[in-house]
Amino acid sequence: MTYAVIHWSGTGNTEKMAELIAQELKSSGKEVSEHTFENAPQDIIQKSEVLVLGAPAMGEEEIDVPEVLEFLNSAEKNVSGKKLALFGSYGWGDGEWMRAWQERMEKAGAKVINEPLTVLGFPDGVEETRCVDFAKEIANY
Ligand SMILES: Cc1cc2nc3c(=O)[nH]c(=O)nc-3n(C[C@H](O)[C@H](O)[C@H](O)COP(=O)(O)O)c2cc1C
Repeated sequence: MTYAVIHWSGTGNTEKMAELIAQELKSSGKEVSEHTFENAPQDIIQKSEVLVLGAPAMGEEEIDVPEVLEFLNSAEKNVSGKKLALFGSYGWGDGEWMRAWQERMEKAGAKVINEPLTVLGFPDGVEETRCVDFAKEIANY
């Protein structure tokens, strides 16, 4: 099973989550490629069996980041039937941005394979363990 871990991060919190998740997937013996939304290859969706996407809440409970939106707009056309896992960091909301993101991907026909992972701020301590556990869960697909 090939996994693509693709993220965007403004201040490093979601980036750290992406690193922890990719590292654990590799430890579980998975083939993993790591990208930012901006640098992900055009054919990354077709080439990967599981897409693991990470972006923080940016805007009013949304992902108001041009490079992420560009990727998602085009992904919507070819994620039907694709296995997806979502994660990201937030600051003060209640995770609304993540629920909206999940809904959007499911409407496009993607299969969100487990409960999206949201972390308040930087993932250290218990939150670091949650990232590792999230990766262990999605490694079962
Ligand atoms: C412009 C801007 C908008 C934000 N909007 C939200 C928001 O709507 N809800 C929320 O919970 N956090 C919001 N945040 C906080 C970030 O999601 C939070 O700082 C997160 O940890 C940043 O992750 P990153 O280091 O990966 O960029 C916002 C931060 C910025 C800079």
